[in-house]
Amino acid sequence: MESNKKEALNLYAKVEDLLGIKEYAPKLYSYYYEILDTLEFNSLLDIGCGSGDFLLKLQKRYENSRFLGIDKSSQMVKVARDCGVDALNIEIEQLNIEFDIATATFDMVNYLTPQEYIDFFNKLKSVIKKDGYFIFDVNTEFGLSDLAVGNFIAQDSNRFITIESFYENGLYESNFTLFERVENCYNKSQERIFQYLYSRDFFKLLSGWEIDRVLPIKLYEMEKFDKEIYILKNVD
Ligand SMILES: C[S@@+](CC[C@H](N)C(=O)[O-])C[C@H]1O[C@@H](n2cnc3c(N)ncnc32)[C@H](O)[C@@H]1O
Repeated sequence: MESNKKEALNLYAKVEDLLGIKEYAPKLYSYYYEILDTLEFNSLLDIGCGSGDFLLKLQKRYENSRFLGIDKSSQMVKVARDCGVDALNIEIEQLNIEFDIATATFDMVNYLTPQEYIDFFNKLKSVIKKDGYFIFDVNTEFGLSDLAVGNFIAQDSNRFITIESFYENGLYESNFTLFERVENCYNKSQERIFQYLYSRDFFKLLSGWEIDRVLPIKLYEMEKFDKEIYILKNVD
């Protein structure tokens, strides 16, 4: 099982605005607000904060709380900081403060390999207070195998991107090819991004975490649920 490389996530960061997912973000985030409105918290860690859009909205909505974003992509962290949120390009184990709540929006958990996944949840327990929550969404099998496969092309005046995506047996793979204009030439870069299918059976087995709620959603308004939002409680 291959880990997602930082170079691949940095390439993704360079083209995310061309992928069309931003238009669905407000709808996805609205489910998170509904959940967060029911919880009391003073501090929140957003893991895989990406370009910081979610954190920016949270900062305005929950004015009295403290927020931090972390992301494995340095490119994403730069974008997030430029938009006015506190974000760091560090790993969970480098954090030395605790949070009431952690979030991970738009599939970040699907990016973890099965090996990384156990380690990730164990480390996260040490930075989330007891009885605190981790709220995240994952793609369902329908979301990965039906909605996200195939070929995609997009461009603007400086970039041309193609993405070929496949799914088989719980593994989703996207091959990105980017041509970026540099003066009168184009630089070509290619990277692969992987997503791994996780479902309730996986989350049930995590030690020290309890499934509090699961919310299936149809973000793209198709016939089946394409995502599930999980609310896990740190019971250790
Ligand atoms: C699809 S983007 C979602 C970004 C953001 N949460 C949003 O709502 O727009 C997934 C993000 O997760 C980050 N990521 C992937 N694996 C990660 C890891 N192990 N630790 C931290 N960030 C990770 C990627 O760099 C990327 O920014």
